[in-house]
Parts: sequence; C-alpha cells; structure tokens
Amino acid sequence: MKILVLNGSPRKNGVTSAMIKAFLEGAESNGHEISVIQVGNKKIAGCMACEYCHTKGEGRCIQQDEMQEVYDALEDAEMIIVASPIYYHNMTGQMQCVINRTYAVGVPKNLKKAAIFLASGSPEMYGGALYEYENTFLRYMKLEDMGRFTICDAESKESAKFDEIRAFGQNLK
Ligand SMILES: Cc1cc2nc3c(=O)[nH]c(=O)nc-3n(C[C@H](O)[C@H](O)[C@H](O)COP(=O)(O)O)c2cc1C
Repeated sequence: MKILVLNGSPRKNGVTSAMIKAFLEGAESNGHEISVIQVGNKKIAGCMACEYCHTKGEGRCIQQDEMQEVYDALEDAEMIIVASPIYYHNMTGQMQCVINRTYAVGVPKNLKKAAIFLASGSPEMYGGALYEYENTFLRYMKLEDMGRFTICDAESKESAKFDEIRAFGQNLK
C-alpha cells in the first residue's frame, strides 16, 4: 500500500519523528511503500479562500509553495498518517495549514485509510486533535480508521510505546 506520512513537528529528532521511525521499521518490512513529508518545517501557507481551486484552477491551488509536494503525494496515497505534536490542544499550526489547503483537492481519489500519531507534553491532551481527525479524515473524507497512537513526553523513554507502533506497521494490511 502507498502510505503518506505527514510529520507536523518542526523538530527533526523529536518524539513525533521517533514514532514515525518506529512505524517505518515495521511497515517497510511488510512491503509498504511509504513517503514521509515533514510539513512542520516547510513553508506552507494557510488557505486564502480565493476559490481559484474551485473555479479557474480546476482543483489546483494558486499558491505555489511547498504544499505542491503534498498535493502530488496525496494523488497516489492510499493511506495517510497524520503525525503531530500537540500545540495548544490541537495539531501544530503547520499541520493545520496543510489540512486547510486540502480544500483545493477535496477527498484524494485513492485515499481509503488513515491513522494518527500524537506527541504531547502532558498526558491526555489529545481531545482537540482527535476531534479534528475524526471529523475531517474519518467523517468528511470517509477514511477507515486504522489506529491512534499517543506518547507524552514522560512516556517517550518507554520502548514499549514505540514497540506498539512498530507492530502496527508490521501488521498493517
Ligand atoms: C508551541 C508549543 C505548544 C505546546 N502546547 C502543548 C499543549 O497544549 N499540551 C501539551 O501537552 N503539550 C504541549 N506542547 C508540548 C509538545 O506537544 C511536546 O513536547 C511534544 O512531545 C513535542 O513533539 P516533537 O518532539 O515531535 O516536536 C507544546 C509545545 C510547543 C512548542
């Protein structure tokens, strides 16, 4: 399966990146084709609501920034993994811009499955991000929920948490 992982963290070696690394170790041994885009340190602006995409643009966004790479990857992806730290009770602003910019393409045609990885400072801080995941990805895009994984900073030294994500990758169909 073609899997697109979006990393909303600006930190290269943070907890979100470690969760993705564990996933890659499992999923690559299982034959999946995975691309990771670290949107957290890309220049991706918010949606301008100009409606170019729904008029003259025919599904293309007028803004020529690093979102173009995400649009290309979304065309092929069969599964998306939204991976983000929690910033003020939701995914990062960078991830929010990416989600808002999918307005141009609507529901990508091959996308059927989703999962979410969340990293936070404190435990049980996931309500806002899970609300968005459930309503945007599962309800609006009609994707099948394949899994939800969370790690707070105090848990980030526990290898068992990462083992669960590795096993998720290994068993993903
Ligand atoms: C701007 C900012 C806002 C944050 N807001 C929250 C928050 O609301 N709740 C929380 O539990 N942690 C919060 N954190 C902590 C991060 O979610 C946490 O350290 C996480 O593990 C970082 O992930 P990363 O290492 O992948 O970047 C915040 C961190 C930053 C920099």
